[in-house]
Amino acid sequence: MDTTPAYPTLRIVSHPLIQHKLTILRDRGTPTKIFKELVDEIAMLMAYEATNDLALEAAPVDTPLERTVGQRVSGKKLTLVPILRAGLGMVEGIYRLVPGARVGHIGLYRNHDTLEPVDYYFKVPGDAAERDFFLLDPMLATGGSAVAAVSSLKRAGATRIRFLCLVAAPEGVRRLAGNHPDVTVYCAALDRALNDQGYIMPGLGDAGDRLFGTR
Ligand code: PRP
Ligand code: URA
Repeated sequence: MDTTPAYPTLRIVSHPLIQHKLTILRDRGTPTKIFKELVDEIAMLMAYEATNDLALEAAPVDTPLERTVGQRVSGKKLTLVPILRAGLGMVEGIYRLVPGARVGHIGLYRNHDTLEPVDYYFKVPGDAAERDFFLLDPMLATGGSAVAAVSSLKRAGATRIRFLCLVAAPEGVRRLAGNHPDVTVYCAALDRALNDQGYIMPGLGDAGDRLFGTR
């Protein structure tokens, strides 16, 4: 995992398999079915890295030969929160890795003219203060959606939040860090910039449309 002094909240997950799959994801010729499978796989691989400091506790276990003490993840269950729509594509891969996870949902879309987020749905477990949250969205562009989603989670009581995305723009990383410096951002790539329409360059296009075959 790479860090860079210019973006202290950012972790770039540079594992070769993630980078290989991300390149296929960026390809305009990749069909919806493969796109969906790749988002799922990359999310799982990223979650493996982003969970590497989860707290453990001792766990006695009887092997076929004797009793020993192993370890298990301690505390309340991890909660995955996809930002609708595109974040949905990241849930199942992580869920396979952490089958005990709870899943909340945040509904947000960007107003195409202002690029500001419009929220339409919010549901997370009630005991938010006791949980670790993974907020999921493939794209961190202007950062408006991420800032709004983190603010909603904090209003619900969440204090431990990580943001997992596939592609981030410098503008979004800076805006999220400026508003929520306590939130670590994990991405597979930090891209060059945003274009005039707020798309990440080189990016991968509209993640929601490519995942769900809409346009
Ligand atoms: C996309 C993406 C993020 C948001 C990022 O969603 O999935 O949620 O844009 O942009 P931002 O950082 O500038 O806020 P979109 O608004 O297109 O909604 P959709 O998933 O429902 O299509
Ligand atoms: N949302 C997307 O889906 N793609 C971008 O490049 C920016 C925002």
